[in-house]
Amino acid sequence: MRAKNKNIRLVLGSLLIFGIVGFQLADGQFQMLQSPGASVPNYQESDYGLGSGYVDSLKTYPDLKDGERQPFNIWEYAGRGKSSFGSPELPMKFDEWLTFHKKQKPELMKDVRKYMDSRYDFNGKTIPGKFMSGERKPIMAGPIAKLPKKAGSFEELAVLTPEEIKEKNLFPYKPLAHPLQSVAHMVFPGNWNKAHPEHLRIDVDHDFPDTYLPEFPPAMFLTTHKELGDITKGREVTLSNYYEIFNGLITPEQMEGLKELLKPTPTTWFNHTPHRVTKEPSAGVSCFSCHVNGHTNGAFELAPDSRPNLARLRVETPTMRGNYNLMQLASKRSVRSMDHFAEIEEYFDGDPGMQQAIGPRSQKREVTNRMGDFNALLDYPPAPKLNPLGKLIASKANEQELLGEKIFYGKGKCSQCHYGPAFVDDYMHDLQVERFYTGRPEGPIKTFPLRGIKDSPPYLHDGRLPTLADTIEFFNLILETKMNKEEKEALGAYLLCL
Ligand code: HEC
Ligand code: HEC
Repeated sequence: MRAKNKNIRLVLGSLLIFGIVGFQLADGQFQMLQSPGASVPNYQESDYGLGSGYVDSLKTYPDLKDGERQPFNIWEYAGRGKSSFGSPELPMKFDEWLTFHKKQKPELMKDVRKYMDSRYDFNGKTIPGKFMSGERKPIMAGPIAKLPKKAGSFEELAVLTPEEIKEKNLFPYKPLAHPLQSVAHMVFPGNWNKAHPEHLRIDVDHDFPDTYLPEFPPAMFLTTHKELGDITKGREVTLSNYYEIFNGLITPEQMEGLKELLKPTPTTWFNHTPHRVTKEPSAGVSCFSCHVNGHTNGAFELAPDSRPNLARLRVETPTMRGNYNLMQLASKRSVRSMDHFAEIEEYFDGDPGMQQAIGPRSQKREVTNRMGDFNALLDYPPAPKLNPLGKLIASKANEQELLGEKIFYGKGKCSQCHYGPAFVDDYMHDLQVERFYTGRPEGPIKTFPLRGIKDSPPYLHDGRLPTLADTIEFFNLILETKMNKEEKEALGAYLLCL
């Protein structure tokens, strides 16, 4: 009897607090019902401006188990998955998982290389005399995206309208998928794995040659010690040398933040459970496993912010340099501060359930604040040709660079979204790239800063643009600016000055 009274009180309480309807069934059991909510009578589907039949032109996602390969052109697919929720159980025993990938990986990687070679001409050509900020790694020449034969040249392609390019299937800059989207997660480049074999995956490798990725290890510049140049003197900062490198230069609080950025923690697939993609159990990864020396090594992953997994966008690791100037962090999540980013970055693919099952990582506020505070010290590389207003100093720049600057602020329209000290507007924009190919729209993406841009290829959120010359061809099409060859080359020379 007493228990029943309690139930009645509970229902009354819910009624008051949540407005939930509760009633007693004939057998004395209670059931909660949520009100169904309003709906539009005779609801009609709309294409919301995408064009009639747009969604029907996309394919339905294939039904894949963890580990199975997907089509590389995953942008042609759309729709809903079976569930938003993942499971920490592997689809098979770890031994079988290993054997499965031992067989699949060589075949997959052969096809990945073939696919990448069909999209890009990785010819190894460099821009003579131009190096990244550590002054060791040459900057690669481009554009290297392969054009379909019937497109002719980039200049001929740029004469066509977006509709014509789409109809004839001529667009060279379609999205780039993660090569193994059903497992997804972080993929480290070859040079990183050579130094850190514990991050070599059993199932998939990076698909770019190291020559087209950032220098490794990259230089590190501090806002507080401009006079010291590259603070690391060509070394990778690790848990074993950070104290020696930074003692006497930063505060104890910043030192703690740096240590946290270097400390490995478990992730969905790098951990000590059998739900992993390394042969041996793993301690996990640290922030600097991807953002090495506060910059980037070109590791990629899938953005955690959508479902099904096959709809998630591939994202390249952005630099942490100059984050002190940004109000928008992450390509789609619009995270508003560095310490908040450190707090929520959990490497669990947006799945708190998986995190609890595999390796909870619950940093306290003061710890993530310290991580953010160290991040705030990471400066852009030097740009000796820019004056305090971010304009070229005429006596230091050559004619081509000066012409490039004129294009940037004029015909190229770049400065409409890339301006200020970091050459970024801190907004998200929908570039409507789907105007040029049949595929699922990617929606608004944040503008990335261009300060120090020569150091962080490949470009765009998914790295589909291997060189700066490719980004210029890309924007020339997207913005329909119709720049000529000379203007595009000048713009390229200018971007190297930033
Ligand atoms: C896969 C390797 C990887 C690791 C490990 C990693 N990141 Fe990142 N980081 C990325 C990628 C990829 C993005 C872009 C994410 C997006 O666009 O949604 C990113 C974005 C960021 C950004 C936003 C930068 C910008 O320009 O928008 C910050 C800040 C950041 N990471 C900090 C951290 C911190 C702090 C950690 C450790 C807790 C960490 N990252 C660990 C790859 C990594
Ligand atoms: C309408 C706003 C807009 C204009 C105009 C614009 N951009 Fe961008 N830019 C963006 C956005 C948004 C991104 C990120 C898009 C993405 O990742 O999908 C971006 C990315 C880039 C990147 C890649 C950055 C990185 O870290 O990967 C480069 C390089 C770039 N823009 C150069 C240019 C140049 C050169 C011009 C002029 C020819 C230009 N942009 C004009 C908005 C703009």
